[in-house]
Amino acid sequence: MKKAISLMVLGAILGVTAAAAAGQTALPKGYEKWDKSKARIDTDKKSLFYGIHYIYVDKKAMKSYKSGGAYPDGSRFVAVNYSIKEENGNKVPGKKNMIVVMQKDRKEQQTGGWRFAGFTPDGKPSGLDGKRDCFGCHEKDAKGRDYVISRYADFK
Ligand code: HEC
Repeated sequence: MKKAISLMVLGAILGVTAAAAAGQTALPKGYEKWDKSKARIDTDKKSLFYGIHYIYVDKKAMKSYKSGGAYPDGSRFVAVNYSIKEENGNKVPGKKNMIVVMQKDRKEQQTGGWRFAGFTPDGKPSGLDGKRDCFGCHEKDAKGRDYVISRYADFK
């Protein structure tokens, strides 16, 4: 049992190191405690967020999210998507199927000064590329809002 635990710890350390080496963004620890949006339902099957998702905003990002200005370095957003489950005629979150992260980093010029990263439901990097897989929509929909698409007015 002890051995199994230490192997898990080693795996976690190696995983983090590999992510850092590739210049990727790690899934922020404790994001579940950040400010959380109401459930956001998207019934368009062609949408990336088909399902029910929640957006989490950290303290650094919240000020700009409210005022609409540019975001300071280090600002973070996490969005967690679930499938849609019907329960007594209501749409409720089913299985978690995707986690995405945006972290402000001025050095990331190609993607509007943000690092975009995707994760599997259990928090492993899903190999998506910020420029290829993410930035297009954010550039198109929110160039004037520092590439943050959702609005604080719809948050809660
Ligand atoms: C097909 C278009 C599209 C693509 C591609 C896309 N997004 Fe988004 N993203 C959106 C939309 C629309 C929202 C706003 C959702 C809402 O209002 O609830 C959003 C919101 C977000 C948010 C919450 C902050 C914000 O901008 O409101 C994060 C974090 C995010 N996306 C990360 C990513 C990552 C990482 C990728 C690539 C893996 C990605 N997105 C690719 C359309 C897209």
